[in-house]
Parts: sequence; structure tokens; C-alpha cells
Amino acid sequence: MVRKTVKYSELRKKLKFDDRRIKGIENEGLAYLTHFLQNKKNGMKDYYIPEANEYLEEIDVAKDSEFQFELPIVWDVPFSPQKNPKFKFIDLFAGIGGFRYAFQKLGGKCVFSSEWNKFSKKTYEANFGEVPFGDITKINERNIPEHDILVAGFPCQPFSIAGVSKKNSLGRQHGFKDETQGTLFFDIVRILESKRPKGFLLENVKNLVSHDKGKTFQVIKGALEELGYSIHTQVLDGKHFVPQHRERIFIAGFDKTVFNGEEKFQFPEMPKPTHAVEDILEDEVDDKYTLSDNLWKYLQEYAKKHKAKGNGFGYGLINFDGITRTISARYYKDGAEILIPQEGKNPRRLTPRECARLQGYPEKFVIPVSDNQAYRQFGNSVVVPLIHAIGKQVVKLIKD
Ligand SMILES: C[S@@+](CC[C@H](N)C(=O)[O-])C[C@H]1O[C@@H](n2cnc3c(N)ncnc32)[C@H](O)[C@@H]1O
Repeated sequence: MVRKTVKYSELRKKLKFDDRRIKGIENEGLAYLTHFLQNKKNGMKDYYIPEANEYLEEIDVAKDSEFQFELPIVWDVPFSPQKNPKFKFIDLFAGIGGFRYAFQKLGGKCVFSSEWNKFSKKTYEANFGEVPFGDITKINERNIPEHDILVAGFPCQPFSIAGVSKKNSLGRQHGFKDETQGTLFFDIVRILESKRPKGFLLENVKNLVSHDKGKTFQVIKGALEELGYSIHTQVLDGKHFVPQHRERIFIAGFDKTVFNGEEKFQFPEMPKPTHAVEDILEDEVDDKYTLSDNLWKYLQEYAKKHKAKGNGFGYGLINFDGITRTISARYYKDGAEILIPQEGKNPRRLTPRECARLQGYPEKFVIPVSDNQAYRQFGNSVVVPLIHAIGKQVVKLIKD
């Protein structure tokens, strides 16, 4: 007898995911439901079943005999879950899933994701078949399933921690954790404390290291060490994998009760940078990406003014055989940091697909949002093959 299955695309159509998301009020219900579907086979479904059922009743499909979510699901999304996963991980501040893609490829099963931006959720779901949960500050850590690795590229918001506690510098016992209260880093700490994954990998902007004369970073490291994790940190540049200069600080940590602080962790050797911008450019590009006369004039004048004052770089025209500056979330505004010269025309900005390539996303990655949202999302994201290379080192130890 042929075993019946149901396609994810059919389920989401039947459940009118797109309409519901447009209303924007049912994201949590969809998060519970998709997390349940993704975790039906790995013992984690109990975390999601009651709310998923409640949601189905609310939208009146629980009684619908046509609805077949008990059947095995065929994941017809670009990046389907691992069939025989070797470890479990959670994806915090998930964005569009740069970490998820890399850790899934390394053999992991994501058992929980959180991201509050509805457009990023849309991209995430289109690629992975899961709607992330929302605001992490509102999620009780007890409702997050057990996992081996926690990954998070936490936001580079102005990240000010009041300063290393005076009490600490006087040598009195006082938690670093308390110092982080009210920041999004605190949410990472409370989840680590409660769930005790064997390891974690965090990412942030390079400036985090020098912020507030190094005090912020000291508190961050202090809080993680206080939890009983041994910490390894390094600044790495994405240019070794893609034609973009993008330096980020990475923090890997390992539970001392598992590894005794004796793990032989090493950040990966960086391959020689061999990538050039021309490798990622599309052949045919719509004229809408060419700067208007007004904008191009404005950028040139702005650059002249600042050069005269001796500061700033202004706009950045690329060399075809070179690498680009760091793409940022503000790229959608004018594209100034990365412009492509064109013969007989004003320069143009990158297309969203070129941005995806610049961050090392595979061609299969779906971009279901407007250009502006796509620029924000890729500007906020990670260099995927770099995450894969670091992740490989982390996973090696966790599996051992
Ligand atoms: C630096 S981006 C991370 C991007 C991600 N690593 C990727 O590959 O796309 C930080 C993300 O955190 C999300 N975020 C910020 N505050 C949040 C919160 N309180 N709860 C959940 N997500 C949040 C932002 O919307 C943003 O997408």
C-alpha cells in the first residue's frame, strides 16, 4: 500500500497562511503549528502540541476532515529539515536564517526559532517551512525545548551596559548577569542558564569589542563565564568566502560540566580570499537599480563636502576584480556603500539577488519580499559560508 503523505505547500495553502500573516495577528499560532509540524518526529512536539491544537480550533480547521496534518509531511521548501539529524539547535534573532542554513547543512535539526520582524519571518518561512516565534523577551525559557547548541547573531543595537559593576571591581560577589538586565543579550544568558546546551555560537559587530572602552565586552564574557561556559572569541572577515569585507566578532562557548574547560576548540583556518565582485553580478539588470540623476548628484556632492573636511569615504564604487565594503541594513536608502559603475549611465545598486550572493546564500534561497525589505534583511545577515566553517568546528566537538 502506498503510504499517504501531505505536502507542506498544500497544508499552508489550505490553512491560508498568507492571508493570516497579512492580518498579522496570528503569527504565534502559525509559529506553534509549524514548530509542531517540524518537530513531530524528534520528541520535542509536546512543547508545541497544546497551543497548535488550540490555534487549529480557533481557526476552525480542527474538525475539518480534509486537514491532514497527522500524515507524514513532504517538505517541499528550499531547505527541508534533516532526515537523520546529529544534533539539535535553536536559532535566536534568526533574521532570515543564515545560521539555520549553515547548522542544518552541518547535520542539525532546529527545534526552536525566534524573530520578531514580520517580513523576516516571511522570508524564513518561505525557505525553511517554519514561522519563527516573536519577541524573545516575552518567551519563557521553560517553553524552549532542550538543544545541544544555541546560535544567535544578536542585534547590534547601541549596546550599552551600565558599566562593569563597582561591586565587581571591589571583588565582591555580584553577578555579571545582572549587569546585562534589560538588554537582548540578557535573554541569551537566561536561556543558556535554564537549558544548558553543550555549546553556543554568538555573532556581533566587531565594534562590540571596543565599545565603552571594552567594558561591554568584559561584561558579556563575564556573564557567560559565570554560567560555567569556557569562552573562545575571534574577529573574522567574510572576505575569505565572499567578495565582501565584513568583520564580525564570534563568541563560541562550551559547557564546563561537559568539557571540563579542556575542549580543543579552534576557529577555522581562513582560506585565501579569491572572490571578486564580478563573480556575483547578474548579467541583465533592470534599469530601476540605476541611480537617478538627482541621487547620483547628491552622493557626489556629499562626498566632496566631506572629503574637504577630511572625513568620511562617501559612496563606494566597486572594482570589478576587488571586494565590496560591508553591506549594512541601510543599503536600501541609497545604496551608497556599494555602487556598480555602468558604461554611459549612472552607477547602479546591487539587486537583492546579488546581495544574497554577497552574503554567500545559495541560489535556491527564495526572496519573497519587496526590494527594500530584502536589502534590510541581507544587510543584517551573516556571511553564510563563514558561519558554516565556524559551525563545523563547534559541531565537531559537540558530536564527539
Ligand atoms: C543582526 S540581525 C540577525 C540576522 C540573522 N543572523 C540572519 O542571518 O539573518 C538581528 C535580528 O534580531 C531581530 N530582533 C531584534 N529584537 C528582537 C526581539 N526582541 N525578539 C526577536 N527578534 C528580535 C531583528 O529583527 C533582526 O532580524
